[in-house]
Amino acid sequence: MARYTVSDLAAWKKSAQSFAMLTAYDSVMASVFDQAGVPILLVGDSAGNNFLGHENTIPVTLDELVSLSRAVVKGSARALVIADLPFGSYEASKELALESSIRLLKEAGVAGVKLEGGTRVAEQVKALVSSGIPVMGHLGMTPQSVNAFGGFKVQGRDSQQADEIAKDALALQEAGAFAIVLELIPAKLASEITKTLKVPTIGIGAGSDCDGQVLVWTDLMGLTPKPPRFSRAYLDLRKEMVEAVGKWISDVESGVFPDAKESFD
Ligand code: KIV
Repeated sequence: MARYTVSDLAAWKKSAQSFAMLTAYDSVMASVFDQAGVPILLVGDSAGNNFLGHENTIPVTLDELVSLSRAVVKGSARALVIADLPFGSYEASKELALESSIRLLKEAGVAGVKLEGGTRVAEQVKALVSSGIPVMGHLGMTPQSVNAFGGFKVQGRDSQQADEIAKDALALQEAGAFAIVLELIPAKLASEITKTLKVPTIGIGAGSDCDGQVLVWTDLMGLTPKPPRFSRAYLDLRKEMVEAVGKWISDVESGVFPDAKESFD
């Protein structure tokens, strides 16, 4: 079966069919999520704090995103794979944005890129779209601007900020973005933006009225020690893994592993 495409998202918006997007950073998890039927895999720069051991997304490099994205593309067969443009790989100019995105498409095989910001990156979005590269926008609490925001805080609570986010959403749509992630904004604002836009919104901490929802996979599986309030763990994987590894260690120490079936004549 062929992979999902950006046209599927447009069709889901039209038919009001809600959809899921999940992060993935490696081929094994990508294959699990693909098998589960996740239609969109995002190789997010959240790999910084969920995979690479950084405090936030800022140190993540384009080279790292290319490697992780290649693994996710290889591990999946059906999902539309979108890669984040990491901090520093697109803000300075449309030429830089093009160069970085082309690497992600050519070297990793992703179907499109995501970048953060609205009006300030509209030129980059236009240049990418006119070169045939699908672009997903990202507004609200954009993690690459965590230093400017002074922490991970809900954005758009006052009317000036809310107006700016709504204007940015329209600017991204106008520039040709095929979807827009809305992160950590009031549910009412996300709902209004979703109703106004022709392109789908994908919410994270933005209420239930967005066209789709995205989560970071380690939050979904209960691996994150202090998950954000807006996420939901569907499994206590950290506990299960710690127990399983502990059992294996004691089997090794007591000589129960390996047994005859696990050994060769
Ligand atoms: O990097 C990421 O995983 C993201 C999602 C949280 C939307 O941008």
